[in-house]
This record gives sequence, structure tokens and C-alpha cells, in this order.
Amino acid sequence: MKILVTGGLGFIGSHTVVALQQKGHEVYIIDNLSNSSLQVLEGITKITKVTPHFTKLDLRNKESVKNYFVANQDVDGIIHFAASKAVGESVENPLLYYENNLNTLTYILQELQKLPKANFIFSSSCTVYGQADELPITENAPVKPAESPYGNTKQIGEEIIKDATRVNEKLQAIALRYFNPIGAHPSAEIGELPIGVPQNLIPFITQTAVGLRKELSVFGNDYPTKDGTCVRDYIHVMDLAEAHVVAVERLLNNNNKSDYEVFNLGTGKGYSVLEVIQTFEKVTKQKLPYRIAERRPGDVVAAYADTTLANKDLGWTAQLTLADALESAWKWQLKLKNNN
Ligand code: WQD
Repeated sequence: MKILVTGGLGFIGSHTVVALQQKGHEVYIIDNLSNSSLQVLEGITKITKVTPHFTKLDLRNKESVKNYFVANQDVDGIIHFAASKAVGESVENPLLYYENNLNTLTYILQELQKLPKANFIFSSSCTVYGQADELPITENAPVKPAESPYGNTKQIGEEIIKDATRVNEKLQAIALRYFNPIGAHPSAEIGELPIGVPQNLIPFITQTAVGLRKELSVFGNDYPTKDGTCVRDYIHVMDLAEAHVVAVERLLNNNNKSDYEVFNLGTGKGYSVLEVIQTFEKVTKQKLPYRIAERRPGDVVAAYADTTLANKDLGWTAQLTLADALESAWKWQLKLKNNN
């Protein structure tokens, strides 16, 4: 089937494009290259031997979005990754996030409403739960007031989609709430490409281990957890990509139970920062220099998924381990270093 992937040259988008192509789908990528590069297209082609269709397009341009969909009325499914996703940046520049994450979503949905049938997958985040009252976190956990404009755009985005599906029976949607995506394709042809100083834990670890950073700062070890450091549910990007294929095929095959569904995508296991460091050192035999630093504002103490709904209803279960993900992230970092 013909699947449009917005943000398809990004971290999760590119891995999903590979998974879609390997299931025989014809992939059309839209990306404005603001947080990715055409090298990613080469990486995808090296893996699948098929170059996806690519259009450089800024989704903030309503006319461009309209023209694209007029020319692509035969699209069968849409997976929408394109968005800004840096929590800290969103605090500094909220209007950039509301424009880039929400105006664009509205423009796309307005075009989807004109199609005979639209199967829409939305990239959401566990950040909508804030610090959940109960762990593991189910899809029924209350959505809490967002800790950042980025998190707010995910919450509002889900509401926009819910309202759109309610008034248009041709539009079916699934929101996928990711926990912490990490790792890289085992070929090391594609992976995470953080711009500047990495905000997320794993790229900071691999850049430290390869000598690009002096040491990792562990943001606090006085939390009420097993070793005082924050706990997260780290999910391999390959598992995450597969979940997107399963979700869009669920809609293509009309197996969804309602017009708007939500699934948590995690492993169901929580690991502390120190456990991640220990696993990284074991897997890579690299000593990781780190120091305990102050807590980072906005961090939740612990978040890991209840995966029951995704496992039973969506029919998807994460297969790969934290060690698999860290090994692939390390192999990717070494490839980046050798290419520079
Ligand atoms: C993980 C843990 C940090 C860096 C964010 C977004 C979320 C999603 C995933 C987009 C935390 C600790 C980190 C460092 C550290 N993004 N840490 N030193 O904050 O759980 O989630 O990325 O959808 O929306 O909020 O991920 O990787 O930044 O942090 O100690 O240099 O690692 O305190 O406990 P986070 P993260």
C-alpha cells in the first residue's frame, strides 16, 4: 500500500520507513530537513535497496500541504512524525512548538478529510502522563497538565485528532505514546542524529564513551528509586518501528475497534540511569566517565509502560532488550565517528 511518512528522515521515522518497505509498502516521505539530512535517505536505500519517494516540504505552509495531498489522493495510510521534540527548546520558544507541531497537524487533517478513507497514525509520547500516580502506566492513566510546551503539543494534538475523527467517519486514527526510544538499526546505516549537545541520555552516553564529551552528568541520585536515579522504559527503535507498521496495517485492514485508539509503546520494564550505565559498560566494555549532578527540572521520577493493551489488542510486543539497544547505539556512534 502507499504510505506517507511525514518526518520520515528523522530518527523514528527513518526506522519506520525501513520496516514499511520490508513489509512491501510503497513509502512516500515528506521532510523539511530541519532536523535530518538526505544522507538518511541513502542509509535507508542501503538497507532496503529501494529508495523511498521523497518530497522536501515544510508542513507549516498550508498551501504546500494542500497541493501535496491534491497530487496524492491515492495515499492509503499516513504516519505523522514531523514535529519539534526538544523539551528544553519548547520552554524557551513555545510559539515555535505550537506552530510547528499543531498548525501542521491541522493542515494535514483538513486534507485527510477530503480523502475517501484516511488511516492516520500519530506520534505521541508518554510525556502526556507527566508523573503518573500508578506504575506501570496504562492508557487510562490521567493525562496531567503538561510540564512543557512540547508535552502540551502532544496532549493538544491527541485532542485535535479525537475531535476530527468524531466528525468524520472516513478518518480513523491511532495515537502511539512512546516511552523512551533508543538504539539504531543493526546495520548502523541509520540511527539517532542529535544536533548539538544531546539532551537525551543514550546519545550523551555514546558521545561520552567515544570521546566527544568529557563525562556524563547524572541528573540527580536522590530520587525515591532503587538507586536514587530516575527510572525510564527504554524501547529499541526497531521495536517502535514495527509497532507503527502493525498500527497502520490495523487501520488498513479495518481491525480497529473505534475511530480513535491509543496505545502505550514500551517494554514494560523500568531501568534507572545507573543501570543503563552499568549495562552500557557491560555490553561495550567501555568505562563510562560520569558524575552525579543536580536534578534536571521537569524530570519525572519514574515512567514505564503497562504494555497489556499493545500486546493483546494491537498484537505487538517489544522483542529487543536494553542491551540490544545499547549495543546498536554504540555501533552507530562508532560509525558516525569513523565517517567524520
Ligand atoms: C532520561 C533519563 C534524565 C541526560 C525525553 C522527552 C520525551 C521523549 C524522550 C520525545 C532522565 C537522565 C539524561 C543526561 C541524565 N522525547 N539524563 N543525564 O527526559 O525521559 O524523555 O525524551 O518524545 O518526551 O521528555 O529522556 O533521555 O532526556 O532522560 O542523567 O545527560 O536520563 O534525568 O532521568 P526523558 P532523557
